Amino acid sequence: MSASSPVIVALDYAQMTPALELAASLDPSACRLKVGKELFTAAGPVLVERLQSMGFEVFLDLKFHDIPNTVAGALRSAAALGVWMVNVHVSGGRRMLEASAEALSGLTAPPLLIGVTVLTSMDAKDFSELACANSLPEQVLRLASLAKDCGLQGVVCSAQEASTLREQLGSPFALVTPGIRPAGATQDDQRRVLTPVEAMDAGSSYLVVGRPITRAEDPAAALHAINESLCVSR
Ligand code: C5P
Repeated sequence: MSASSPVIVALDYAQMTPALELAASLDPSACRLKVGKELFTAAGPVLVERLQSMGFEVFLDLKFHDIPNTVAGALRSAAALGVWMVNVHVSGGRRMLEASAEALSGLTAPPLLIGVTVLTSMDAKDFSELACANSLPEQVLRLASLAKDCGLQGVVCSAQEASTLREQLGSPFALVTPGIRPAGATQDDQRRVLTPVEAMDAGSSYLVVGRPITRAEDPAAALHAINESLCVSR
């Protein structure tokens, strides 16, 4: 089922059971789900299949980064699982990115292929230790442009970067943004947050939202409130 909402709920759980319980409380037409390294390592492809059989589209957030042949193989395995979105680190370089796009081309319904530019957990000081000639924002733009040039369909970025990337890279190019907090919600460990409406206004295509939904007393109601704020019909 394809959700009309841009919200992707991050299932940040260590085990299958709470992830399935949370999913069961949500409507597949009202959101998509993100399965990351912790949950996938614990629960594996079976969990992804269970979520898909419940009607959800799944973003498999494994951020592949390896030699071209290995990443291409990992992407083929992800595609065989039937996931909706996958991602790779853009810093793997042109040959890895082209091998990634090539691995998925020709499939009947390939997952969207998204790049990770500079991890948004890095600040300017962390970044300076990598001895890159560009500033952090310059590097984000450079990597996002490389991703687009190599045939990727979008990037993960902070909502703060979204407007520049949208301006420079145009549409269609998916901008997948975490660090989203509804007005008045606790920030948790996120530092620079935008509301769902602000993020969409900045040019985001998809909003990754975890704790404001997964830790809400009523997750379906929290999701509904976000969708309402975005004027999504369901
Ligand atoms: O709970 P919260 O809404 O902060 O969760 C955000 C999700 O997005 C988590 O799964 C987190 O790992 C992920 N994420 C992020 N920042 C990034 C990339 C991914 O918060 N730069």
